[in-house]
Amino acid sequence: MKFRIAIFASGRGSNLKAIHESILTEKLIDIEIGLGVCDQIHAPVVEYMKANKIPSFTFSAKEYPDKNAYEAIIAEKLNEKNIDLVILAGYMRLIGSVLLDQWEGKMINLHPSLLPEFPGKDAISQAWQAGVKETGVTVHFVDSGMDTGKVLIQETVNIDREDTEETLAKKIHNVEHRLLPNAIKKLRSLQ
Ligand code: GRF
Repeated sequence: MKFRIAIFASGRGSNLKAIHESILTEKLIDIEIGLGVCDQIHAPVVEYMKANKIPSFTFSAKEYPDKNAYEAIIAEKLNEKNIDLVILAGYMRLIGSVLLDQWEGKMINLHPSLLPEFPGKDAISQAWQAGVKETGVTVHFVDSGMDTGKVLIQETVNIDREDTEETLAKKIHNVEHRLLPNAIKKLRSLQ
């Protein structure tokens, strides 16, 4: 049986693409993207999923009375698709109790800093502005807080003299594209 993952994203979707390519090139084996979820109907990630025939659910939060309402629909879709693991890769919403009650322990998030340093939005800019010598990438389990769950895997990225905020962002994204597939592989092997 393939290990079935769902990936939630809100924008560009380079991490969803990195996971998809790892599957296509067999760096990730016996793993299938069962569902992509996006809360921005015009996001590039939606186009990528369509073009690559990845089953997807796209929604607009403002069309639902509250978080519970749209999370209930997502929960139904995850169950229909027999998902084993949920991956938040650039999904810009806090997860509420409807999803957490079922998925805590089986839901991970990708964050572009060495947590607990620089949680929340714009973590790369936060690190750049702080003038630190190193930052990095974290994959952690999701809990009800903002980037507070137990760390699964982390990798350091050095900030060198010649870096700009743009080159730092590129270095971080390159690490993300390798680290997130590795985290999936790790969780798959524990099944
Ligand atoms: C990544 O940097 C991730 O760490 C953060 O949002 C960004 C998503 O990028 N949570 P993409 O949409 O996968 O290109």
